[in-house]
Amino acid sequence: MGDIVVSMPLLAILEEILNNKIFKVIRKVFMTDNLIIKPIVQAISLTKYVRSSETVLTILQDINLEVNKGEAISIVGASGSGKSTLLGLLAGLDTPSSGKVYLNGEDIFSLSEDGRAELRGHLLGFVFQSFQLLPVFTALENIMLPLDLVGDSNAHQIALEILERVGLKERINHYPKQLSGGEQQRVAIARAYVTNPKLLLADEPTGNLDLSTGNQIVDLIFELNRERGTTLILVTHDKNISSRCTRQIRLNGGRIGE
Ligand SMILES: Nc1ncnc2c1ncn2[C@@H]1O[C@H](COP(=O)(O)OP(=O)(O)OP(=O)(O)O)[C@@H](O)[C@H]1O
Ligand SMILES: [Mg+2]
Repeated sequence: MGDIVVSMPLLAILEEILNNKIFKVIRKVFMTDNLIIKPIVQAISLTKYVRSSETVLTILQDINLEVNKGEAISIVGASGSGKSTLLGLLAGLDTPSSGKVYLNGEDIFSLSEDGRAELRGHLLGFVFQSFQLLPVFTALENIMLPLDLVGDSNAHQIALEILERVGLKERINHYPKQLSGGEQQRVAIARAYVTNPKLLLADEPTGNLDLSTGNQIVDLIFELNRERGTTLILVTHDKNISSRCTRQIRLNGGRIGE
């Protein structure tokens, strides 16, 4: 009981301190949604292995990673080092063998498949290494799709604007098979951005682009990172991208290395 007698005034003092003006300012800066230092992505001891008849192939081992809001990080490493697998796990598109991923503080693998899809829809844009555009939809329709799914009545206008920003205004009614690899890549990037995501995960976003188009897309990605505070996680072999990122993560045989 003696403890309570002592702790009550302590609590009152603590409350007084927290209500103090300076603390209110600090709270506002550090505890709002725009928080710079709060991690938007956190991976804890993430491991992925696949079993085949007699062997176990470890693709990722003990990956620990924190990415703060507004950061731009690149993931680099040799082919087969696990970059795409890691990106897919961070987005909850794939499930780990063990470990956790928190997106915006939410433990994504504790959510149902639908719960994860909803969180993704609100929070992130994903650019696949293989684009994954829907063949039966035109470029414009592919880009409108994420907005249509949430019933946005401005989908058409917003999709047109982003399509113009990636330089494909003349291609709105083309189907993916009528587009070059680089054009499909730009449609995929536009689709990832159309919902104005807080987090963009992109797998080799310039992998199919010539130098000049690649530079334009990189400029666009970093412009949006500045303008909108979009957090970027970019898998890339492109030195132009990694040099513009705030941090680089190197994967080496499924582990984070130097
Ligand atoms: N479902 C799977 N079953 C078996 N092996 C897999 C599976 N998925 C990935 N792998 C293997 O895991 C390793 C990592 O694959 P991943 O696609 O993540 O590599 P990456 O670093 O993205 O390579 P790249 O630069 O070529 O795109 C590869 O050796 C791949 O063959
Ligand atoms: Mg890959």
